[in-house]
Amino acid sequence: MKSILLIHGPNLNMLGKRDKNHYGDLTLESLETLVTDEASKHDIEVDSFQSNHEGILIDFLQEKSEHAQGIIINPGALTHYSYALHDALADTGIPCVEVHLSNVENREEWRKVSVTAPACIAKISGKKENGYIEALELLIQKI
Ligand code: DQA
Repeated sequence: MKSILLIHGPNLNMLGKRDKNHYGDLTLESLETLVTDEASKHDIEVDSFQSNHEGILIDFLQEKSEHAQGIIINPGALTHYSYALHDALADTGIPCVEVHLSNVENREEWRKVSVTAPACIAKISGKKENGYIEALELLIQKI
């Protein structure tokens, strides 16, 4: 069975309590269920992981990517400055789609910059949870 990694960066464990205008009202658990259920219709298994710590996310990628075919990642604020996460994503050698719940193009200037997106095949933002479904559809075409 094919499998993908669904990775959430810092503060995404607080979904449901964070600004709903930006991030919607789903909890992280409901978001994971949504993606897992959709993926199972295509016989794809989802391995979900959240951490508030850059190095722990990198450890997870290094450990799990060998046995996965694709990655959906919302790196949270690490998007905007983590070259280490960029390199870890690039090193996996498998396709990755970056997702942001909010419209990062339409907020503070610093949120427009993604240092991780160049390691991904696509970046989707501003579509709340629907962005994850779109990311899954993109990955399905590649894996
Ligand atoms: C986010 C956007 C980031 O700028 C922010 O730091 C987050 C969430 C999003 O999903 O819109 O934590 O990645």
